[in-house]
Amino acid sequence: MSAAQPEVPPLLEVNNIEVVYSDVILVLRGLSLKVPKGEIVALLGANGAGKSTTLKAISGLLKTEDGEVTRGDVTFAGERINGIDPHLIVRRGIFQVMEGRRIVSDMTALENLRLGAFTRRDREVGDDIERVYGYFPRLKERTGLAGYLSGGEQQMLAIGRALMARPKLILMDEPSMGLSPLLVQEVFGIIRKINQDLGVTILLVEQNARMALSVASYGYVMEQGKVVLDGTAAELADNEDVKEFYLGGHGAERKSFRNLKSFKRRKRWL
Ligand SMILES: Nc1ncnc2c1ncn2[C@@H]1O[C@H](COP(=O)(O)OP(=O)(O)OP(=O)(O)O)[C@@H](O)[C@H]1O
Ligand SMILES: [Mg+2]
Repeated sequence: MSAAQPEVPPLLEVNNIEVVYSDVILVLRGLSLKVPKGEIVALLGANGAGKSTTLKAISGLLKTEDGEVTRGDVTFAGERINGIDPHLIVRRGIFQVMEGRRIVSDMTALENLRLGAFTRRDREVGDDIERVYGYFPRLKERTGLAGYLSGGEQQMLAIGRALMARPKLILMDEPSMGLSPLLVQEVFGIIRKINQDLGVTILLVEQNARMALSVASYGYVMEQGKVVLDGTAAELADNEDVKEFYLGGHGAERKSFRNLKSFKRRKRWL
């Protein structure tokens, strides 16, 4: 490597994508974002903004919902991955932790973890199960069906299962959803630890902007299928619009970014 530090391409680059469901419903309208290797990047936005759709466009799971990337590119580790089958995207090192956890409820926690390793042929699966138990000790004690785990335990299992694939990039869809404040703290502590210990890159979708920005290095705010604002986590946490919209008091009426005085439509890189 030269000392001049050539610009390192991001691990993931989403470039001006358009996503359509059922051939007619246009949901993403030219969305772009970058996730540098080894970082946690937050993707924020109100209900229906298109956050989960963005993750599914990356993981290929759109296909299972009759959705399609009709324009733009998703590039992972320098290669274009849009249109590739979801299981092949998992093999390349991207694992999505779905909204609502989606563990297999009629299997045990251990069986769910083994399932996460389905792409692997190495002999270290057992070691990795122990490592997951190291992060989430209470999963080891739960030997019954995963469907009977508490919400927090199911979230932990979903993250643990993702780790079993030894992914390069984890896409997390609202890990705080339905958890008590204490559990949210715990889960985010583990997300940070996983990132630091294992070097896993994370794209984190959250409505809990405060928590997300506390662990992320960079963030994007999306609205109606587009990014309307982006910046370092510190910049966003300090941004008046973000504060008003996401970090304000509970029950405050949510405004659209479009109506906020200081919001200016910024030209994206495409
Ligand atoms: N399979 C689908 N078919 C048709 N429309 C869909 C489908 N999935 C999502 N949509 C629509 O796309 C838009 C964005 O949905 P998406 O789930 O990506 O939003 P989100 O930002 O994740 O919202 P939330 O915070 O509520 O999870 C919504 O208007 C939704 O109704
Ligand atoms: Mg969603």
